[in-house]
This record gives sequence, C-alpha cells and structure tokens, in this order.
Amino acid sequence: MTSKSIIRKAVFPVAGLGSRFLPATKAQPKEMLPIVDKPLIQYAVEEAVEAGITEMIFITGRNKRAIEDHFDKAYELEAELEAAGKANLLAMVREVIPKNVNCMYIRQPQALGLGHAVLCARPIVGDDPFAVLLADDFMQGEAGGPGVMAQMTAEFARERLSLLGVQDVPREHTRQYGIVSTGPYAERLEKVKAIVEKPAPDVAPSTLAVVGRYILTNDIFSCLEKIGKGAGGEIQLTDGIEALMQRETVLAYRYHGRRFDCGSKLGYLQASVELGLQHEETSAAFAEWLAKRTT
Ligand code: UTP
Repeated sequence: MTSKSIIRKAVFPVAGLGSRFLPATKAQPKEMLPIVDKPLIQYAVEEAVEAGITEMIFITGRNKRAIEDHFDKAYELEAELEAAGKANLLAMVREVIPKNVNCMYIRQPQALGLGHAVLCARPIVGDDPFAVLLADDFMQGEAGGPGVMAQMTAEFARERLSLLGVQDVPREHTRQYGIVSTGPYAERLEKVKAIVEKPAPDVAPSTLAVVGRYILTNDIFSCLEKIGKGAGGEIQLTDGIEALMQRETVLAYRYHGRRFDCGSKLGYLQASVELGLQHEETSAAFAEWLAKRTT
C-alpha cells in the first residue's frame, strides 16, 4: 500500500494549550509526552508513514522547539553515541524519521482553534486531499492489521470522499467530541448527515464520535475560511466539516482497532499500561509487577 498511497500529506495540529496536562505542558507540547519511550507525536508520524504519507506538516505554536528538534538531526547526541560505541541507540536516534519523509513547520500565531490550525496548512497542502492526525488520540490497529490511517487511505483510494474516523462512545461522554448522525453507505462507512461539536448528552444526535483521524478534500479550506468562531469561541474543524457537507458527501469510517485519549490523564495512563505490557523490554517484568500489585 505504502508507495502507492494517493494521500501524501499529513497535517499534525500541535499548537493547542494542553491545559489538561499542566504543569507537564508548561514548557513543552503535550504531543512530546512519552508512552513508555516514544513521544505521542512519533507514534502518529509512524502511523502516517505506514499509510504511505511522506510530507509531514506540523502546525506549531509556542513551545514548538521540542517537536522540531525531535525530528531533526541531533549532531552532538549522535557524535557522543558514536564515540561511546552505542550502535543500537545511535540507530534508534537516526531512525526517528525515514529518509524519504519531509517535515515542515507552520506557526499558528494564536491558538484560535483546531479549524484555524488546519487552515494554516493551506499554503503547503495546496490542491491535494490530505490527512489530519491529532497525536493525542493514540491509535492502535488490530494485532497484525494495518494502522488506522492506513485503513483510511485505502478507503479514500476507493471512495475519493472526505473521511472522518469515528467510534461509539458512552452517551455521557458526548460533550467531549464532535458527534455525527449518519445514514447507511457501505461496510464500516456511513454517510454523515449532521455533525455537531460537543453536544450535551440529552441533545446529542447519536453516540458516534469523531476521533482525531481525518482525510479531507482541499475544499475544506474555503469552508474554514468562511465560518466564524463556534463552540468555545474557537474556529472549529467541526463547523468547517458541516459546511463541506453542503458541497460534497462526507463519510464516517468505523476503524478497526482501539484508541486511547492521551489528551486526558486517564487515557494517557491506560495507554502507558497497555504499551508497557507490549514493549519487549518491559512486558514480562511489568506484567509480573502488575499481577503482584493487584493481589
Ligand atoms: P484540544 O481540544 O485537545 O485542546 O485540541 P488542547 O489545547 O490541545 O488541550 P486542552 O484541552 O487544553 O488540554 C485538539 C487538537 O487540536 C490542536 C491541539 O494541539 C490538539 O492536537 N489545536 C487546538 C491546535 O493546533 N490549535 C488550536 O488552536 C487548538
């Protein structure tokens, strides 16, 4: 799938304030928080690379440097690891990003909302359809299966329509998400009829929530340009998608796999436990420790 992907560009909005993770996010973006030994943003970039995407566009804000440095060459560190003969660590540092992948950075001058952050990518995205990945939604495909973005680029290759990654959530959680109402379309795909940002549980049109994975046609930009501030006084991607739906069909995609909401403390802890149990260095000892701890 990879080299033939028709989605080549991914946008990573990383300019949010991360207020739910203060003070950890006081001087660094929340996307640099590690799950075991890798920052959230690296998992998201790896998911995009697996989907055949080669152009990574980061929408950064204040405290941007850690992300730029993470995907840049680390001359001093590499020299020291080389001198110390630490070949494995040196390879790990050098392989953070594959050689055929380009990273680009655009500054969002003010955190005016996710829709505004996506609009900031317009000069680089141009006329192409593109992916959006919110790195604080940490996604794992099913064991042995493709990652969520690879599933979505494959669906896009067939349908050529904008896609929103969705999952069912408990009704009491609708206030945390964009919620869609849908009609039938195809297996795992539904046609979006309405989308509403963070509805209260009693008025939410369904419990189908949009998660942090999108493929959007470039028509989204002119829609985002026209909408004003929405919920929370922010320029909402949800409102841009609602405008896009007036022009073209937008599909909801029920992905294979699972998601950890690493923008919240609970989701972050759950992801850390799950990956601690999967990581080759920690799995056995961590499982043993957890088992003893709970008996
Ligand atoms: P969130 O709603 O999670 O907001 O943003 P946040 O500021 O990151 O975190 P909290 O709620 O204060 O704890 C969803 C995504 O949109 C990005 C964020 O970086 C995150 O990936 N975002 C949000 C921007 O890039 N710019 C914005 O103006 C707002």
